[in-house]
Amino acid sequence: MPSIFRLSTAGLILLSAFQQSVQAMGLRRGQENIVVIMTDDQDARLGSLDVQTYIQRELIAKGLSLTNHFATVAQCCPSRTSWLRGQAAHNTNLTLVTPPGGGYDKFVATGQDEDYLPHWLKAAGYTTEYIGKLMNGYSLATYSPKPKGWDYTDILVGPYTYEFNNVVMSENGERPVYYHGYHQTDIIRAKALDRLQRLIEKDEPYYIQIAPTAPHQQSDGPAVPCVRHMWTHLDARAPRIPNFNPKDEFQNQKPSWLRDTPLLNQSVLEFTDWQYLSRIQSLVGIDEMVEDVVELLREKGQLDNTYIIYTTDNGFHIGNHRQVGGKGLPYIEDVNIPMIIRGPGIPINVSSTIPSTHVDMAPTFLDIASVPERKYPPFFDGRSLLPEWKAAGNLSSKASSGKEIINIEFWGRVNNAGAPDYMIPSPIYAYKTLRIVGEQSSWLYSRWCDGNATELYNTIDDPYELTNLALSPAPEHEKLMARLNGLLLVTKSCSQESCRNPWTVLQADYESSTSAGKMFTNLEEALDTRYDDFFRNLPPVGFQKCMNYLFTPNEGPFYPPESISLGSEYRRPTDNFPAFATNSTFTPGNGAREGTAAQRHATLAEILKRSRSLTDAEMGTSIICGPPDYCGNVYITGIRVE
Ligand SMILES: *[C@@H]1O[C@H](CO)[C@@H](O)[C@H](O)[C@H]1NC(C)=O
Ligand SMILES: *[C@@H]1O[C@H](CO)[C@@H](O)[C@H](O)[C@H]1NC(C)=O
Ligand SMILES: *[C@@H]1O[C@H](CO)[C@@H](O)[C@H](O)[C@H]1NC(C)=O
Ligand SMILES: *[C@@H]1O[C@H](CO)[C@@H](O)[C@H](O)[C@H]1NC(C)=O
Ligand SMILES: *[C@@H]1O[C@H](CO)[C@@H](O)[C@H](O)[C@H]1NC(C)=O
Ligand SMILES: *[C@@H]1O[C@H](CO)[C@@H](O)[C@H](O)[C@H]1NC(C)=O
Repeated sequence: MPSIFRLSTAGLILLSAFQQSVQAMGLRRGQENIVVIMTDDQDARLGSLDVQTYIQRELIAKGLSLTNHFATVAQCCPSRTSWLRGQAAHNTNLTLVTPPGGGYDKFVATGQDEDYLPHWLKAAGYTTEYIGKLMNGYSLATYSPKPKGWDYTDILVGPYTYEFNNVVMSENGERPVYYHGYHQTDIIRAKALDRLQRLIEKDEPYYIQIAPTAPHQQSDGPAVPCVRHMWTHLDARAPRIPNFNPKDEFQNQKPSWLRDTPLLNQSVLEFTDWQYLSRIQSLVGIDEMVEDVVELLREKGQLDNTYIIYTTDNGFHIGNHRQVGGKGLPYIEDVNIPMIIRGPGIPINVSSTIPSTHVDMAPTFLDIASVPERKYPPFFDGRSLLPEWKAAGNLSSKASSGKEIINIEFWGRVNNAGAPDYMIPSPIYAYKTLRIVGEQSSWLYSRWCDGNATELYNTIDDPYELTNLALSPAPEHEKLMARLNGLLLVTKSCSQESCRNPWTVLQADYESSTSAGKMFTNLEEALDTRYDDFFRNLPPVGFQKCMNYLFTPNEGPFYPPESISLGSEYRRPTDNFPAFATNSTFTPGNGAREGTAAQRHATLAEILKRSRSLTDAEMGTSIICGPPDYCGNVYITGIRVE
């Protein structure tokens, strides 16, 4: 027997020293570290992950990929807020990237920054840090004080958030710093590695979120990759899948403004392919970032007690349904997003169809942190995914009732990203959408604000969402739509248990209206003809008109009536909150495109040498920017505002 196992006094001392060093290495049970890498606007359906070879090899092949993970609102700021608060957008009421619908000002004004993920993890003993893009509206006017809850922040500051060669960030709410001569991806990588080193040295579990801007477009065109990647993947072009620039026969089945989009011509298609290539190339830099992060964790012996999560805020379309490139549609390209997990107890090289959303992430993180469920905030609309992640390798474990129902919502307009010459801004629109993501049946059902237009797609038979069955519905589709309308009536204003299992609400009403005992707890059961009248008599989901924020009187009826509170008991009121902008002078930025091969391993020390604080003129003076006329994320003559 080796001497270490002999229970002599010396051995005990050795063992306890070993335990201490295990502690020092962070190998404690039940409070694993969490490293999140969240990109901006990355698709799951158009092949963007294919070029990320390190992620393929070290995360996908050594972890779990969730093929049915969804953003419940296909816009950055609302989706990120849902991640951070564990609530649907209709309950955070952050429904757009700019005021009055959303933005960082609204997040703060409503007090939601006093009660969100970093506070909860901190209370559980975690160190919490954030590097990169937080959300729209964190800007020269709002950077200080730093966002609450985080032990450390170093956040991209608007109007520079989307500039790849003109990077301005604020560390802990200090005066913003301009980083000359480096590409944003290299800067964020170096900063993330520096923070991770420090976190590893501390004896506390940690949550760090690393959020680069790629592959989001710049303000004046597609994403700008690191120079060293501009010769890679030159043959990449936007996938010509069946819903790419479809014929009139299909386009005519869409709601009105989409229906009126002309067929994309040759010059638009060329732009689209350039945009696709730029995105792909920008993601190669992100792959390197992930590589360095994971290799650092490996080198420090942290892979076995760290969850590494790779995801994005929302998806992206390019040419699909004739939209040049952007997000904000209910279709699969915009809402189905990458979600890859590697970590302790997570199955290896498994792809799972278990449905889930970003609303589920906050409870999942608290579960990882061993926070008991009774200590969760009362307002979570999702549920922890951790047990399902761990069981995902077990083919016989199936998604149970309610989980296959995905509520998706939107207010705003499609922003045909970075396409100045082909910018066809859509009118303002909104929709309420349900996705049923079942093994046997799978549907996309939407009600739009204009004329209450309806869509129904069978997403098993018609995965590209081209044949709208609501236009001249067969009797079985009428019957189905009555059920989906009933569900959507609940999910569009659901909270907590009614989000996790909307059938319970309808069930209770059905039971009280009849003496019948039989319950429906899933779509198949609800389709029984005995419930025809019940569902037919429910009011239709609809809007009075199209608006780019959630105005309650516009969205009735509410079901049940008390659901009209829409999360307001858990935040301050959101009417007429103040928003700010500055009249700053824009810094010129890098003369050349950066991200050379020589900068591949640039250290933070090197990067800091060429950095400087913004000047007073570059800082500008804060101006109040509404209410009532919010400046928004727009250019005003002589003033650049975000
Ligand atoms: C991962 O799974 C895929 C599909 O099941 C298989 O083709 C591949 O060889 C596996 N890779 C590894 C590294 O096990
Ligand atoms: C897989 O799931 C089934 C059904 O829940 C269960 O009986 C079985 O023990 C599980 N197997 C493993 C390896 O977890
Ligand atoms: C192609 O379409 C765009 C956007 O509709 C338009 O601006 C452009 O003039 C068209 N180009 C040609 C060659 O028709
Ligand atoms: C749309 O539906 C709402 C709610 O049912 C209704 O009040 C409104 O009149 C409808 N609008 C149109 C144009 O049908
Ligand atoms: C949501 O925000 C809008 C815009 O600030 C406001 O008008 C509306 O009353 C809010 N709705 C709720 C339910 O808080
Ligand atoms: C910004 O506004 C302040 C206060 O109104 C003014 O003093 C300053 O000159 C303005 N700066 C620019 C660049 O317009």
